[in-house]
Amino acid sequence: KIRNKIRGYCEDFEIDNDGYKRIMNLLEHEMDKGLGKETNAAATIKMFPTYVRSLPDGSEEGNFLALDLGGTNFRVLLITLHGGEVKMESKIYLIPQYIMQGSGNQLFDHLADCCAKFMKAHAISHLSLPLGFTFSFPCKQHGIASASLQTWTKGFKCAGVEGEDVVRMFHEAVKRRKDIDITCVAILNDTVGTLMSCAHDDHNCEIGLILGTGTNACYMEKLDNVELWDGDDKEPKQVIINTEWGAFGDNKCLDWFRTPYDKEVDEFSLNGGKQVYEKMISGMYMGEIARLVILKLTQEGLMFGGEVSEELETRQRFYTKYISEIESDDEDEFRNTKQVLEEMGIETFTIEDCRNVRYVCEQVSTRAAYLASAGIAVLLNKISKPEITVAVDGSLYKFHPKFHDRMVDKISTLVNPGIKFKLMVSHDGSGRGAAMVAAAVAGIHFKND
Ligand code: BG6
Ligand code: GLC
Repeated sequence: KIRNKIRGYCEDFEIDNDGYKRIMNLLEHEMDKGLGKETNAAATIKMFPTYVRSLPDGSEEGNFLALDLGGTNFRVLLITLHGGEVKMESKIYLIPQYIMQGSGNQLFDHLADCCAKFMKAHAISHLSLPLGFTFSFPCKQHGIASASLQTWTKGFKCAGVEGEDVVRMFHEAVKRRKDIDITCVAILNDTVGTLMSCAHDDHNCEIGLILGTGTNACYMEKLDNVELWDGDDKEPKQVIINTEWGAFGDNKCLDWFRTPYDKEVDEFSLNGGKQVYEKMISGMYMGEIARLVILKLTQEGLMFGGEVSEELETRQRFYTKYISEIESDDEDEFRNTKQVLEEMGIETFTIEDCRNVRYVCEQVSTRAAYLASAGIAVLLNKISKPEITVAVDGSLYKFHPKFHDRMVDKISTLVNPGIKFKLMVSHDGSGRGAAMVAAAVAGIHFKND
């Protein structure tokens, strides 16, 4: 009986295939709006042209710096490309919360400071290296090295950056300190780095997908389909589009299946009303959705004998990694689940409670995987080639035990017949990928010299 009641509370997470097809139609419509010149201003999915027009061919050469901002970790990297080989060194630096939500100049001064420390540690402070900047936020690009931030997403909210050119702000911060000489030659989204890094090894790769703190995808589009393209139309007549699909649903078109838990997650976020699709899929929010469901079920007396702990009542306290751990558990022992419940301050629980907690996690993460699948199916159908590889990165995809399999199953039921696809983990988009974009630009630059 309790089982049935719990299922009842979770019912809204189950969407049938017709529902996913409806979501695909809506997404496709929003994407087309984003690509249109007249319709882009009102579109929620911005479909930003990236100015990256070709995929790497392995001939890229040189030493590059890269910055990776916007995922779980902020990193500075040094990459050497030579004869198809890639060497890389990197270091993670912390960005304290007061900087993530402080002033823009403070943020860029911090980035420049980390670059200076990194260069000193690698004895390269005297060199003037080209830098590829992986900046994983929605930006309108004006060129390969010029991009204005449209709005912060995920955990960032620094004053005075929205609407500004982030490359200019970075260069100004570098100049303010006089001890280093860095030129950012390319700015890219993490989805683009992910696509580039994988395309280096797999020539069918035309989609980059991130399932991490946030979610987003990019793909290679024909220039003819990009009405808003204002760059040159030299060959190859194509450009990578950063969809910024996390904003899907911001015009309320997905409200027909959002649950009260989704609405609460949104209400207590830094960017209320925004990134609706992202908030139902990505790692920054998934644990919180599960926590709200478990809390509700406990308050209703359906779990843990109705005993709510302080941790269970604390926002953001049920980490998304718990979902991966719980779903990795052996069904008879529930070792990880028990450990998580202990960490959550739940003192007494039964095996049935463990089973129910796992059920909630599965409901939440399966919907996330299926929603992302609907998005990928739309892009595969758009590209419509016989074989397409999707490059994927992000902690959610890499650490969740079943995300990949669930996505493969779901995409197979949604994609048009005649399209074969592969989901492939892409390594170090923000390093390898960023260096490849930088190399392409630097190459052109040197030729022009
Ligand atoms: C990393 C990429 O591996 O994945 C980053 O190199 C990207 O560029 C990140 O932002 C996304 O995943 P997460 O889980 O760190 O947000
Ligand atoms: C957010 C950002 C987007 C990024 C994604 C994954 O959706 O807006 O730019 O690609 O997170 O990191």
